[in-house]
Amino acid sequence: MSKVSSAILQLFREQGGFVSGEIISQELNVSRTAIWKHINSLRKAGYVIEAVPSRGYQMISAPDTLIKEEISAQMKSDVIGRHLICLDETISTNADAFRLAEQGAQEGTVVLADSQSGGKGRLGRVWSSPKGVNLYTSIILRPVVMPAEAAQLTFLSAVAVARAIESTTALKPEIKWPNDVLIGGRKIAGLLNEMSSETDRVNFVILGIGVNLNMNNDQFPADLRCPATSILLEQGKPVGRVQFAAAMLNELDSLYADFLSKGFGPVRKEWQQRCNAAGRQVDVSDAGKLVLSGMFAGIDTDGALLVQRSNGAIERVISGDVRVI
Ligand code: BTN
Repeated sequence: MSKVSSAILQLFREQGGFVSGEIISQELNVSRTAIWKHINSLRKAGYVIEAVPSRGYQMISAPDTLIKEEISAQMKSDVIGRHLICLDETISTNADAFRLAEQGAQEGTVVLADSQSGGKGRLGRVWSSPKGVNLYTSIILRPVVMPAEAAQLTFLSAVAVARAIESTTALKPEIKWPNDVLIGGRKIAGLLNEMSSETDRVNFVILGIGVNLNMNNDQFPADLRCPATSILLEQGKPVGRVQFAAAMLNELDSLYADFLSKGFGPVRKEWQQRCNAAGRQVDVSDAGKLVLSGMFAGIDTDGALLVQRSNGAIERVISGDVRVI
């Protein structure tokens, strides 16, 4: 979007109601003809703008497309999203963010894409990323922590997604270890952290977040490993993508501020309360074989799952499939 179009939108938001052509022209130092051209290009981008002779222009509605101007208008964060990059299509926002971080991009830079042709999932899997329906985003963080502590940041993403689902819908999300967000036992979001580090310091962490927002049944791949769902399927109506993206980034910002000032404690506590295994018995299996049964006992500081056996001993689980009984 051009700088002038973006400034016109900002004027609409600041002033509310009708804004005269004269004011726009004075404030932005552009001709009436130029304003008309920009208004038309905004309309082509999906903005509904009313024009009334002698009163000027009024924005009636904005499109629900993931563009910088719309997301920024709903953001109240300090760090996350101070630099927003919104792409129409990319291979993977994680790959983009990783490259930008290597080139020195500042902490809080967010890459969002409308679609991904090579969305990356955990364990080398593909993350299906159709156009115009979901949220695919990657956030660059530069926390001053030891590499072993960086895993804690994935838990921030899970809590931020869960909070955003609660604030934008009436749905009740749960978190499944290690880091899936579920609704009614079906996966609605996946998180992929990537990191660049040296022995004793983290250069940067990329928080990759994919949330199935308005995807319908036909858009899910046929060979899904675990049952998946979307907000549209769960509540029977779509959620605003811009609203959801801004809510999630705002939550992440406040969680990250808490993480930096108070450490892992608060997020760990909230994650444990939101976990689908909280207060329950679990079976842990590896490659289909049952390896451990016991009571969910939380997560360790490095993200390992803690399970208490019937004899009271606490076991750490680094990988495996956890089933709540
Ligand atoms: C998982 O396997 O559960 C993790 C999926 C993570 C997908 C997101 S979508 C945005 C970001 N870019 C990627 O390529 N992957 C992550």
